[in-house]
Amino acid sequence: MNVARRIHPLVSGLSLAFALTACNFNKQKVNTDNEAAAPVTTADLNYANVNSKVISLYCLSCHSAAGGNRAGVNLETYASIIGRLELVQATTILERSMPPSGESQLNSSAYALLKAWIEAGAPQ
Ligand code: HEC
Repeated sequence: MNVARRIHPLVSGLSLAFALTACNFNKQKVNTDNEAAAPVTTADLNYANVNSKVISLYCLSCHSAAGGNRAGVNLETYASIIGRLELVQATTILERSMPPSGESQLNSSAYALLKAWIEAGAPQ
């Protein structure tokens, strides 16, 4: 597994994503809860934890075989998430366009966990 090497291109991609996000500040969503995010520790940064607290709860209703693999995106396995990590980060963390408007949005803790996990190189 070569996660570190996959993450590097993110840095350049991120500048573009930030530029896009900057135009969208007025549309930016807020977390649905008003609570401070639970602190994220290194022990939290693993796929099983992220899958159970974020992906399963907020993504798999659409991005699974049972959910119809919307937009051709399946997020049921670690490998499938790693293969789309840059898009997951862009949509869910930077633009906050996923989950789509009108769907249940990540709460502060789920958002902080996913963000920290991706920034740590999405460890398994
Ligand atoms: C209610 C259904 C639904 C949920 C829930 C949902 N998505 Fe999506 N997703 C879509 C649809 C529809 C598209 C294609 C249209 C679009 O990009 O807006 C899409 C597109 C995507 C794409 C591809 C974007 C691109 O530019 O190719 C990614 C990556 C993605 N979603 C990740 C996620 C993640 C991560 C979550 C959970 C945090 C999530 N989605 C939750 C319906 C959903």
